[in-house]
Amino acid sequence: MNNYEICHCMGVTYADVEDALHTMTSFTDVLSAFQHVQEITHCSTGCGGCHDKILDAISEIMNK
Ligand code: FES
Repeated sequence: MNNYEICHCMGVTYADVEDALHTMTSFTDVLSAFQHVQEITHCSTGCGGCHDKILDAISEIMNK
């Protein structure tokens, strides 16, 4: 499995994002998924530089 750290400020990895997404009961869109992932992992609450990379990871995971 391809795991790497996406958010360096909060130390959130691709696998952390995937785990957080798996706790969602329904998936509507990437932005609400992002909010959910952020509540759980606190990703993108530091410098914010990872924001687009988190969104990309969410889209990729949801399209698997
Ligand atoms: S790298 Fe994610 S908030 Fe800074």
